Amino acid sequence: MDRVISGGMQDGDQTLDNNLRPQTLDDFVGQQNIKENLKIMIQAAKNRNEPLDHVLLYGPPGLGKTTLANILSNEMGVNVKITSGPAIERSGDLAAILTNLKENDVFFIDEIHRLGKAVEEVLYPAMEDHAIDIVLGKGPAARSIRLKIPPFTLIGATTRYSQLSSPLRDRFGSIFRLNYYTIEDLQAILRRSAQILNVKVEEDGLKQIAMRSRGTPRVANRFLKRARDFADVIGDGVITESIALESLNKLGVDALGLDEIDHRLLESIIYKFHGGPVGLETLAASISEDSDTIMDVYEPYLLQTGFIERTPRGRIATDRAYEHLGVSRRKSKNNPIQGALFD
Ligand SMILES: Nc1ncnc2c1ncn2[C@@H]1O[C@H](COP(=O)(O)OP(=O)(O)OP(=O)(O)O)[C@@H](O)[C@H]1O
Ligand SMILES: [Mg+2]
Repeated sequence: MDRVISGGMQDGDQTLDNNLRPQTLDDFVGQQNIKENLKIMIQAAKNRNEPLDHVLLYGPPGLGKTTLANILSNEMGVNVKITSGPAIERSGDLAAILTNLKENDVFFIDEIHRLGKAVEEVLYPAMEDHAIDIVLGKGPAARSIRLKIPPFTLIGATTRYSQLSSPLRDRFGSIFRLNYYTIEDLQAILRRSAQILNVKVEEDGLKQIAMRSRGTPRVANRFLKRARDFADVIGDGVITESIALESLNKLGVDALGLDEIDHRLLESIIYKFHGGPVGLETLAASISEDSDTIMDVYEPYLLQTGFIERTPRGRIATDRAYEHLGVSRRKSKNNPIQGALFD
């Protein structure tokens, strides 16, 4: 199926993402606390003519980690070098990148929790002492030399904070968690995006999109793009409330922003596992989804909105989930026909 709420991006959306990406902190909507902290850090670093201290950004996909990394390099007036944890295979690759940085550059590592152990160890002295240790030779004759590298800012991004090793975590000067956005913030983001995309919108239309965007700017922007198609084809080019609703319904997104996979996930817990608890792997297998995708993309929002809970024995569906799907607890346990429906 065409995924509307995926963690990764398709090509068209990638370009869309880049066009709509704010370039300055003032254009970056919401996350007030993070913005205020970053503004002060930037000013202080500039005054001292030093690189910004290393920053770790974490939180669910699509909330603006990559965007913030770009903004930070912009605001500092330096270059940004972008890579990702799985892309750096050998420690030599990392050493090569580090030695090529210019003074005060930003080095952005996406999915930093996926760095290999040996690679990660190269980062420690680089972050702390602006140096890398290179081992020459092998066996008893091996010796290590220390190479100076330019002072730089490491920005790490991750959706899995808990998978980061503590030595790496400890070397960041500041750690920020991005939160889901409010409906007002999403509406402001959509207003800005609509202007950039040059599409006419009514506030009621934007509000409907914002309400169903799972607190996530990337999802909001993607829905806006789909709504624009609808406005162009079946409307008169304006995203009105009814056009917005029609496009969202066609995408299979319900009134609270849950899509088909969210529904399958909740239904599976309720019908196949009697409301839970059920382990992540079992649950993933039951709906033929990848467990990482469930953990990174689907579960955080369902947890945040109180549709599921995580217990030591697995995931359970909450009363809210039963209500939202219109199922009574007794019925789902005892009605064999209902249960059989999903087997
Ligand atoms: N605060 C914001 N204000 C305006 N637009 C935003 C904001 N945050 C994110 N966006 C928009 O959402 C899109 C996705 O953001 P971004 O790519 O930075 O997310 P991410 O956290 O890096 O996601 P991932 O974990 O998947 O890499 C961006 O293209 C940008 O247009
Ligand atoms: Mg990103």
